[in-house]
Amino acid sequence: MFTHEEKDAIYKVIEKRRDIRSFLPDAVPQEAVARILEAAHHAPSVGFMQPWNFILIQSDELKNRLAWAADKERRALAIHYEQDERAAKFLNLKIEGMKEAPLTICVTCDPSRGGSHVLGRNSIPETDIMSTACAIQNMWLAACAEGLAMGWVSFYKKSDIRDILEIPPHIDPIALVSIGYTDTYPTAPILETANWEKRRALEKLIFHEKWRK
Ligand SMILES: Cc1cc2nc3c(=O)[nH]c(=O)nc-3n(C[C@H](O)[C@H](O)[C@H](O)COP(=O)(O)O)c2cc1C
Repeated sequence: MFTHEEKDAIYKVIEKRRDIRSFLPDAVPQEAVARILEAAHHAPSVGFMQPWNFILIQSDELKNRLAWAADKERRALAIHYEQDERAAKFLNLKIEGMKEAPLTICVTCDPSRGGSHVLGRNSIPETDIMSTACAIQNMWLAACAEGLAMGWVSFYKKSDIRDILEIPPHIDPIALVSIGYTDTYPTAPILETANWEKRRALEKLIFHEKWRK
């Protein structure tokens, strides 16, 4: 079904994709944005409900207001990180990145899409959010394949984002993603390089037949 090169390419993109915090001002080509959104829209979703919407934001005024909402949350969280300046620094970097990136996409989830009986969603209602996360991961991989950088921001009060982007109360703003070019595409997660966390040993995460076996 896939050639060796094609197979290698997909694993390469999965491995190379990184969460990016600094961006160049160069515009993102419209065709690349269209392909990234097409990739998102091909994600799996519970009962095929496709709960996502994508708000494309290029206005500096809105980007600054979104960055303000994230910064407000960063300051609220700072109390947890009083002993650790690095945490504050990492969160701050992301906020600068939000202002720098030429494009921000707010990815939302509409839990009411598909009505009250979305196939397979009844036992685990969060499957709509899980589906939206699948779409975001597709965007991340597509952006990487396009040579573009993407950063995921999730620290904000949803009410702030709803107010700024005029999102109705029943719609969930799942992510703010910054997209653009970068001259610093790291080979390992930034939090790993900074000795914050390291990749866990996969063998220890795999069990056989029963938990911890
Ligand atoms: C659901 C989700 C939410 C995230 N939210 C944030 C965030 O608010 N701020 C941030 O700096 N990074 C955020 N990240 C990025 C992670 O920090 C990053 O994926 C992780 O450190 C691993 O690095 P890598 O993506 O380069 O492999 C988020 C990632 C995910 C999957």
